[in-house]
Amino acid sequence: MQFFVDTAETDAIAELSEMGILDGVTTNPSLVMKSGKNPRTVIAEICRIAAGKPVSAEVIATEADAMVAEGESLAEIADNIVVKVPLTWDGLKACDRLGRMGIRVNVTLCFNANQALLAAKVGAAYISPFVGRLDDLGLDGMELIHEIREIYDNFDFPTEILAASIRTPLHVTQAALAGADVATVPPAVLHRLAQHPLTDKGLAAFLADAAKIKSD
Ligand code: E4P
Repeated sequence: MQFFVDTAETDAIAELSEMGILDGVTTNPSLVMKSGKNPRTVIAEICRIAAGKPVSAEVIATEADAMVAEGESLAEIADNIVVKVPLTWDGLKACDRLGRMGIRVNVTLCFNANQALLAAKVGAAYISPFVGRLDDLGLDGMELIHEIREIYDNFDFPTEILAASIRTPLHVTQAALAGADVATVPPAVLHRLAQHPLTDKGLAAFLADAAKIKSD
């Protein structure tokens, strides 16, 4: 499974990129707003840091023609831009048209299997089902990943399943088991993937014993 980082914080992206565990980046208007930077400037910076890796940048237009124009403009920022459009009727039209222009599209804000089926039909490069936001409603967000995996496999759709709205390390494990192609994970959750109390306890014991070793 590929790891994308879900942030517009360039320091975090640079650290993960240097570690070699970064396969791509997703942003959305809320994450860009939190970065406090000009949207095009921060997206361009992210594209440089994650050179050669897909960087999703989301349109804010809501009508198909305007989404296509905004998508074309975003795609001019760098070769690794993936244009993100919402899963609305106009978003599906824009996805189809951008795809025909050779621009890769990530269809976002997906909350059910039929939406994912439509995104695959219009040639989305990625579908982004939001696991955590479904869980927030008391539903089983991960079940949606299983459903989409089965449907895409039934018909050999090449659209990649990008598990989004990942909130916990358990979500990451479950997305991998469900066969998601990608999990986009906030930096703080990525850090937590490496943590285990028994690792900390074991390391403390080893270091304590090492300090007792007499040197020759
Ligand atoms: C995905 O691309 C979205 O940016 C993101 O995963 C949304 O996560 P949230 O529901 O935690 O805001």
